[in-house]
Amino acid sequence: MAARGVGLLTRLPLGAQRNKVQRSLLRLLSCPGTVAADLRREEQFSGSAETGSEDRTPKKRFSEVQEERREQAQRTVLIHCPNKISEKRFLQYLSQHGPVNSHFFYESFGLYAVVEFCQKESVASLQSVTRMPGLGSEAAVPFRSRYFNLKLRNPLNQAAEQSSVHCSHQSSPSSKKLFELLCCAESVDDQLTALLKTFQLTEENTRLRYLTCSLIEDIAAAYFPGCAVRPFGSSVNSFGKLGCDLDMFLALDEIGNFSAQKTSGNFLMEFQVKNVPSERIVTQKILSVIGECLDHFGPGCVGVQKILNARCPLVRFSHQASGFQCDLTTNNRIALKSSELLYLYGALDSRVRALVFSIRCWARAHSLTSSIPGAWITNFSLTMMVIFFLQRRSPPILPTLDSLKSLADAEDKCIIEGHNCTFVHDLNRIKPSENTESLELLLKEFFEYFGNFAFNKNSINIRQGREQNKPESSPLHIQNPFETSLNISKNVSQSQLQKFVELARESAWILHQEDKECRSSNQPWGLATLLLPSVTNNISFVKKRKKPASERIKNLLESIKSSSTENSTDTNGKRAINTQA
Ligand code: GTP
Ligand code: MG
Repeated sequence: MAARGVGLLTRLPLGAQRNKVQRSLLRLLSCPGTVAADLRREEQFSGSAETGSEDRTPKKRFSEVQEERREQAQRTVLIHCPNKISEKRFLQYLSQHGPVNSHFFYESFGLYAVVEFCQKESVASLQSVTRMPGLGSEAAVPFRSRYFNLKLRNPLNQAAEQSSVHCSHQSSPSSKKLFELLCCAESVDDQLTALLKTFQLTEENTRLRYLTCSLIEDIAAAYFPGCAVRPFGSSVNSFGKLGCDLDMFLALDEIGNFSAQKTSGNFLMEFQVKNVPSERIVTQKILSVIGECLDHFGPGCVGVQKILNARCPLVRFSHQASGFQCDLTTNNRIALKSSELLYLYGALDSRVRALVFSIRCWARAHSLTSSIPGAWITNFSLTMMVIFFLQRRSPPILPTLDSLKSLADAEDKCIIEGHNCTFVHDLNRIKPSENTESLELLLKEFFEYFGNFAFNKNSINIRQGREQNKPESSPLHIQNPFETSLNISKNVSQSQLQKFVELARESAWILHQEDKECRSSNQPWGLATLLLPSVTNNISFVKKRKKPASERIKNLLESIKSSSTENSTDTNGKRAINTQA
């Protein structure tokens, strides 16, 4: 976990540009308006993710972060509190069970406290004095978890001491506040950085995610002692946006490994187990039982759906207290490896996360992505596209997966279900990029690159970092980095791809067109224009305040032509507009 209180300004990117960005951000943070102030408060209160986005922050391995967070979650409890409470008395009360290491409050249909004890034993001590509720006419399933309900014994006597506590926010700001924040920025670079800081998972939200997994693990452990429930996807890969779903998987393979290590002597002891025809059936059976458990006994687990016939069977439910939409799968080690790979890419260069967040927000604003499964592009695919684009810069900003594999040592070797998932894990062994391009330029170039990409014949491949002929006819082909015969964007339809291409071109056009003098704090500009619901409308907005159309188009063509010449080596000359995408 990152050290607390690391200030925003000490974690800014790009050594050379830092002073300029720092000055602009100082201006941004002193801008009258609530979001900037909130952002500053949030920064002071909590550390950011563990991604080492600043040179001086030690870069932790993914596995280290996972283990630390998991252990921390096991010492933590979740308490539903009365709406007003004396924080001091509350902590005194809990301290009877052992010292409290940290705590925070948040609101989600009531007031909740997340309390981390210094020792795991304190949790057991608190459980030992906790009673089952008497529910009057209803009956309770007597399940002893780490999710409690705190009641006041004498509400009237204690009223004088109760007050509202500071609550950490668990959701992203409204669009209005976001635009306010973006328009106060001084440059597009600052806008991207501000967007990242506003939307990234806070320290508290990350803790709540690990705690939720840990609470689910307690339920699953009733059937499978020694199992682990691990978060993956955007909750842990450093690209999670406040409000994103919580992907978790039940790791059962660790149970077997543990017993195998203990076996010695001339005999080999095995558990007597039930056999079923396939791994898929095992997964379905386990998830079916865990789904029932969550539905019947899981405190706060509601809307449980068992989606067992999907390609990857899962149980979907809402965890009411945390507000997370959860997807539970089993033994998803490859997905955890993908999360680790993305974490590594996110930590290598501070521009990566800023760019990914902006592209994800842009795609969401224009309904290119959706929380409902369908023919749309996913956030996972968009992240792969950004990584690929950054591998194609000159000099490259990110290394290819093959080069990360070549840096691996024996300890990094990893084969999962026959797929080679080996890559270097120690971030400090990877040489930083010499590329110093600004975020503004990269954003423009991203839109231009994919606005002109030959999707009809080429595949995106982060393993080799270059376009390859598509092995199949799906409109969009993005090679799965580990299961290389699979396309992670097979679901994307031609019309969705076309929409992506058109929006990318229009966004490139807007960014090329904007002149810096037009930037003001009360009209959308830069990233703010791109995030308005319809880019097409924005074009008319941009057009209104610009020169006559013929002159604009002429200028645009010239600027694109000149930038194509300058960067022709970056993209192997594949800048000719391909209208067949
Ligand atoms: P959000 O949209 O913020 O939830 O992003 P996410 O990265 O968490 O995506 P999602 O919840 O859809 O999927 C969770 C994880 O599953 C991803 O991060 C990937 O590791 C993995 N994943 C998602 N889609 C695919 C896919 O099509 N193929 C493979 N192999 N893995 C996938
Ligand atoms: Mg997810």
